[in-house]
Amino acid sequence: MDNAPKKVFVKTYGCQMNVYDSERMRDVLAPLGYAETGTPEEADLVILNTCHIREKAAEKVYSELGKIRRMKRDRAEQGAEMLIAVAGCVAQAEGEEIVRRAPAVDLVFGPQTYHRLPQLLARRREDRKAVVETEFPAEDKFHGLGEEALPRKGVAAFLTVQEGCDKFCSFCVVPYTRGSEFSRPVEQVLAEARRMAAQGVRELTLLGQNVNAYHGLDARGRSMGLAGLVAELSRIEGIERLRYTTSHPRDMTEDLIAAHAENRKLMPYLHLPVQSGSDSILKAMNRGHTAESYLRIIDRMRVARPDIALSGDFIVGFPGETVSDFESTLKLIKNVGYASAYSFKYSPRPGTPAAESDKQISESEKSARLQDLQALVHAQQTAFNAAMVGRTVPVLLEKPGRDPGQLVGRSPYLQSVHLQASPTLIGTIVDTHISGVGTNSLSGHYANAV
Ligand code: 5AD
Ligand code: SF4
Repeated sequence: MDNAPKKVFVKTYGCQMNVYDSERMRDVLAPLGYAETGTPEEADLVILNTCHIREKAAEKVYSELGKIRRMKRDRAEQGAEMLIAVAGCVAQAEGEEIVRRAPAVDLVFGPQTYHRLPQLLARRREDRKAVVETEFPAEDKFHGLGEEALPRKGVAAFLTVQEGCDKFCSFCVVPYTRGSEFSRPVEQVLAEARRMAAQGVRELTLLGQNVNAYHGLDARGRSMGLAGLVAELSRIEGIERLRYTTSHPRDMTEDLIAAHAENRKLMPYLHLPVQSGSDSILKAMNRGHTAESYLRIIDRMRVARPDIALSGDFIVGFPGETVSDFESTLKLIKNVGYASAYSFKYSPRPGTPAAESDKQISESEKSARLQDLQALVHAQQTAFNAAMVGRTVPVLLEKPGRDPGQLVGRSPYLQSVHLQASPTLIGTIVDTHISGVGTNSLSGHYANAV
């Protein structure tokens, strides 16, 4: 295998799982001599790790490919090669079509096959034609990944524990692009977490499309849920904070809720998408819960952990959504009071049931509803941040800030906090008195290192 020094540029779209996947691709490529570059023009390999969840995602990728194709041509004129790879969910959904429309592309591979990158690159070199790999292979793509002590950047990191989805919400492509639900074995997750802790990671965010449906096998071959996994992870020395995302209301089990009451390492912040506050829309979305059952979960979470804050996902303009359905969503938002939320205009995804509906909502109506919803959520978020002023919160210091002598850290609620502190404190948690609030961050000063 050719291990001469080479450069790879990876552009990541979409969710945190893609961020994690891109990291793993870098890990897989490092032994082949690939170092990362931030400049695509000088890359020997450009990877677009794509997202297919909403809006003309494929079109964005094709337009990006147009730009990269020109870079490839410029490099060829200088006598150097550039390979172009399309990875992720657009690759999974489009497959061969990508090579037809963008013949400059050398590799197309889905989210389940990036561990095969060395073989795919070798095949490309031998056959001298584009390689398309969009199967769901039987082997475990996590197996053997990153077992070398590769340096991780930073004190907060993602760790994928579960992938795929069997819920088939009627608007969503994930069950088709990421495949059916799969949980990594407990020991494999713990081993990766221990390695991360040894490399300085203090905060772990467990990732999965349905992370709270986690059911990995433990060393004795018994199934363990997310609550059990969190308990195991919290015993690892060096891991001070745990989070998990994204959860489904149907999988907020009693033991997971109890874990929030018992486990201090579990941060009091939960992302729990509801999508809509209208029962008839929730039914059409095939969500398997009602607005009321969602609110009862929130109540139970607040009993378990009174300082918990919530974030959510919302879709406006789902086919058939009436003004009164939309008002039910606003009512639910007022009822819950979110610390933050992600909201989207419904976007028909080819191959999903909702895309076939003849009750599509006009673009202008969707835009108007989105604006109303975002104004409400923005007001809640601003109030939540403003209420931090005057409080003392534990902040995990992550990196130097923009100004000299400044560090940036994170509150338990994922807010960025700026404060003056010595860089030797990076990686520690300091009690910070919050004195100011900006648009996207807080500022404060600390008393004692913990
Ligand atoms: N249109 C709009 N939003 C969508 N989401 C998923 N599919 C669609 C779609 N077709 C949103 C949901 C989900 C988040 C990750 O993206 O709110 O929770
Ligand atoms: Fe998509 Fe629904 Fe599965 Fe979430 S639970 S990934 S929204 S199908």
